[in-house]
Amino acid sequence: MKRKVSILSILAILWCVGASAQKKPAAAAPQLGKSPLKAVIKAMTVEEKVKLVVGMGFKMPGASSAPKKKDTGTTAVPAATPPAFTLPPIDPSDDIPEKVPGAAGRTHAIKRLGIPSITVSDGPAGIRIDPIRNGDSSKTYYATAFPVGTLLASSWDVNLVHKVGVAFGNEIHEYGADVILGPGANIHRNPLGGRNFEYYSEDPLVSGSMAAAIINGIQSQGVGTSIKHFVANNQETNRNSVNTIVSQRALREIYLKDFEIAIKASHPWTVMSSYNKLNGPYTSENPDLLTTILKKEWGFKGFVMTDWFGGRDAVAQVNAGNDLLMPGTTMQSKAIIEAVNSGKIKMSQLDANVERILNIVLKSPEFKKYKYSSKPDLKKNAAVSRMAAAQGMVLLKNDDKALPLNGKKVALFGNTSYDLIAGGTGSGNVNKAYTISLIQGLTNGGYSADANLKNAYETYISDAKAKQPKSRMSFFMLPPPIPQMAITPDMLSQEAENADVAVITLGRNAGEGADRKVENDFNLMDSEQALIKNISDAFHAKGKKLVVVLNIGGVIETASWRGQVDGILLAWQPGLEAGNAITDVLSGKVNPSGKLATTFPVKYDDEPSAKDFPGKELPMPEGEKPNPMRGHPAVVTYEEGIYVGYRYFTTFDVKPAYEFGYGLSYTKFKYSDLKLSSKTFNGAITATVTVTNTGNVAGREVVELYVSAPAATLQKPEEELRAFGKTKTLQPKESQTMSFTLSAKDLESFNTAQSVWVSEAGTYTVKVGASSTDIKKTQKFELPKTIVVEKVHNVLKPEVQIDELKK
Ligand code: BGC
Repeated sequence: MKRKVSILSILAILWCVGASAQKKPAAAAPQLGKSPLKAVIKAMTVEEKVKLVVGMGFKMPGASSAPKKKDTGTTAVPAATPPAFTLPPIDPSDDIPEKVPGAAGRTHAIKRLGIPSITVSDGPAGIRIDPIRNGDSSKTYYATAFPVGTLLASSWDVNLVHKVGVAFGNEIHEYGADVILGPGANIHRNPLGGRNFEYYSEDPLVSGSMAAAIINGIQSQGVGTSIKHFVANNQETNRNSVNTIVSQRALREIYLKDFEIAIKASHPWTVMSSYNKLNGPYTSENPDLLTTILKKEWGFKGFVMTDWFGGRDAVAQVNAGNDLLMPGTTMQSKAIIEAVNSGKIKMSQLDANVERILNIVLKSPEFKKYKYSSKPDLKKNAAVSRMAAAQGMVLLKNDDKALPLNGKKVALFGNTSYDLIAGGTGSGNVNKAYTISLIQGLTNGGYSADANLKNAYETYISDAKAKQPKSRMSFFMLPPPIPQMAITPDMLSQEAENADVAVITLGRNAGEGADRKVENDFNLMDSEQALIKNISDAFHAKGKKLVVVLNIGGVIETASWRGQVDGILLAWQPGLEAGNAITDVLSGKVNPSGKLATTFPVKYDDEPSAKDFPGKELPMPEGEKPNPMRGHPAVVTYEEGIYVGYRYFTTFDVKPAYEFGYGLSYTKFKYSDLKLSSKTFNGAITATVTVTNTGNVAGREVVELYVSAPAATLQKPEEELRAFGKTKTLQPKESQTMSFTLSAKDLESFNTAQSVWVSEAGTYTVKVGASSTDIKKTQKFELPKTIVVEKVHNVLKPEVQIDELKK
């Protein structure tokens, strides 16, 4: 009896303590933003902290609110179409209404402490949300599809990209999201990379500068960004399982470098770690990457989130400083709570992750209770999209002034002319209200095209699309490209007779989940080669010209067919105003000023990474079954080392079809008076060069500054881009003097043996030019003594020997 009483009394005491513990903080709980942050964190229970570092889960959206097919361009995909396999369970308490339907994820709210839930949304080329909610199409939520990253980079214009960021940021703000899941800043290692369109360049300076410009623009509007995918995620094949083996030097100089440039220059609110492993561990589980390099060496102050379901081990992720696990699963929460209780995760680590997240929550529109309108100025943003698109297109060929178009009657060929691709697929897709086709754009611009040809193409395309296989995995798997419609000899001779000029558009699409193929994608399809040949013969026989428009997201082969055409305009994937923007350039309303930020090789095998892409598959571990989300165990070795893109082509003397930095204009420019501030480097050196428009129309020129560095102890590429700029619009005969200042950091190379960035003593050649091989002026200076720019940590070492390419 005695014993019973005592147990009861203990239970009663425990109940009272529990009740008062629950009650007390509710009354006195510190509030985010009002109380010191440390006090808020101190008041949090372990469960609450874990709630904060694990996202709210992945609702299977889309099924009820899939967008209606109003879009004439890429197929509108519901945000994350339900895949054909089961995902980890979702905590039922997560099931609260979404703030922005179709957004990719949310963090948990902790109401007791005044912590709201923040919403993150894809993606790099526009906010990807459901355009129609609850089947009610009387009010829509379409978004602006801006030009893809590769096009923006080809503008080489950081001010322009900043402007795009401002418009984009405003749209994110007005649609109620807090953080956009972009920009994508992975390097174009190989032309087949399925997500290259989302990324900028093969060069870290161009890529990092563009990412910084868009981040600064977006974040100026009070919303955040998530630069992704950190790091060495340069392929889609087996992206969730591939182990990327890469040397420390190539990592530091190429793959980390562009993130370093962007992060230091723009302070993104968040960074997204990638799916892949890097020299062993998953990036999201690697403290050397996320804490030592990103947070300590680079001083990143925001938080790191995983890519969706990225990595395997939640505990390792928390310990690595991957602050937020997205989209978040119950299993992860359980594992973290257990690890905190067993001491595998220190409370100080969990608190540090929580603090980083809360610091960003404090800046978020949601925390500030911003009253978003859901009515961004879509008209204004479409105008920004069109303007930017025209600035980033690259004129690859223009024989005998094929462009601007002479004559108003255009014979318009190629499926894509009638079905332009605004942007790529997967999470990089944008649910836009429309895509202006090329025929619409040309018509808007005062050109005429044959209505019979238009009808024939439209019928052909809709029949072909209806026959395409429907896949449950359509979010990740694109249907095969539609072969070109065959043009009958009658049709052809009629067009050649009646029209002033022929235009063919060739299109390519790709996206998340798969890489491109060499056959029928990098290389042209037979039906495309035949189309070019037939039209070339017919039009040239009449003394008329043929222009090809490339509506592509990644590099294709051009060398085999370009001889048959007079002009080639690389329009990339230019966003929702596609047809209007292309017409602006074809007509001469806009003088093209874009240049390639990625090399076009003569053939795929010329690429230095061709033999190591997309790597080798390894046997499945015993007991594991293949899972499409996780991919197959695989390894890819970056044997080309630092020789990526033009660093390879210029060093090893391989002639590309169109080199890095190349692009024509409707006018001509002269370079003169390259001067250096000194013949000896003394802390910094300034190069000035005068650019004059010597042609007949106004135009802008991209000016590229390459440096050839002495190979003292380290091998050096033939040249590296160390600065660039773009002139204002120069009228005929007008000049502008461009000025570039280089510090020791701008000359550095990575010495792996000593883990230092160094600028080695010797003679440097400054080469200023219109492309990586079209060097107009050179000057030399001496660096008398090697400068150690920075000592860094000896981390991210490959576990195996790499047989790296050497000069
Ligand atoms: C992609 C990310 C994207 C995320 C959320 C992932 O599959 O790799 O780029 O932001 O999904 O949609």
